[in-house]
Amino acid sequence: MMNRRHASLALALASGLPLSSFAQKKIVLGFSQIGAESEWRTANTESIKQAAKDAGIDLKFSDAQQKQENQIKAIRSFIAQKVDVIGFSPVVESGWETVLREAKAAKIPVILTDRTVDVKDDTLWVTFMGSDFLEEGRKAGRWLTENVKGSDVKIVELQGTVGSGPAIDRKKGFEEIIKGKPQYKIVRSQTGDFTRAKGKEVMQAFLKADPKVNVLYAHNDDMAIGAIQAIEEAGLKPGKDITIISVDGVKGAFEAMMAGKLNVTVECSPLLGPQLMATVKDVVAGKPVPKRIVTQEGIFPMDTAAKEFPNRKY
Ligand code: AHR
Repeated sequence: MMNRRHASLALALASGLPLSSFAQKKIVLGFSQIGAESEWRTANTESIKQAAKDAGIDLKFSDAQQKQENQIKAIRSFIAQKVDVIGFSPVVESGWETVLREAKAAKIPVILTDRTVDVKDDTLWVTFMGSDFLEEGRKAGRWLTENVKGSDVKIVELQGTVGSGPAIDRKKGFEEIIKGKPQYKIVRSQTGDFTRAKGKEVMQAFLKADPKVNVLYAHNDDMAIGAIQAIEEAGLKPGKDITIISVDGVKGAFEAMMAGKLNVTVECSPLLGPQLMATVKDVVAGKPVPKRIVTQEGIFPMDTAAKEFPNRKY
């Protein structure tokens, strides 16, 4: 299939003029970001903007403020502007079929970053780069079963955005590990929408309903940090009275661990910008790219925080 860039190259060759006389047109990437709900997301946006600059790619960036309809509008506007590639991080997994078909009909390749979509036809997108959220949930679960012992461990869970890939998979992976171990019980589970404010609010409600909680599993660091405030305001010691497990590995989580208030964070890297720009260039050049590019990540318990902190880039 010949895209617009290949077509202009063919035109240049057919004209008989030297290629150098045709100024190299910048690649245009339309990127629809979810929003600015967390420290992770802010770092992800910075990584994408900086990498586009470094790679000489013309980035059209749109912030959807956590709303799927805004992302759909942004994608339609990128199609109307005839960008070379569309990149986006879908706020939720379902509901993308129609707009992705529109992009395909316009012959604009789509790259998924961070989160994936749930569509039957996987030719609607070229590649998906980002973390393995299921494995992150499993890592959190394994840390719990290896480090928190007892015959009746009461867990409260702060879920991410309802319907989002990380909320679905981090829950699933964690539950997979505690399944068949009746001493670990999730007694309350609710969404905190990946934000500090909501994390605090929901944790307050959890503690009001029953302050006898042993473990908090938060699907991201921001909700854990909000919950830490709620726990302290309730006169309890986060990290001691309540063991806290979260995901992301942002600097705020490392600070909380160094203060003894958060027990472990499972890493989820937002630094996807350079990989995205390299893939955009490959796609435009017509090179084959892998369908799935998984980010390699670790896990950081509290006792590693001080040593690791100076190395953290987000
Ligand atoms: O999709 C990645 C998740 O989205 C991060 O864990 C969370 O902090 C962010 O908002």
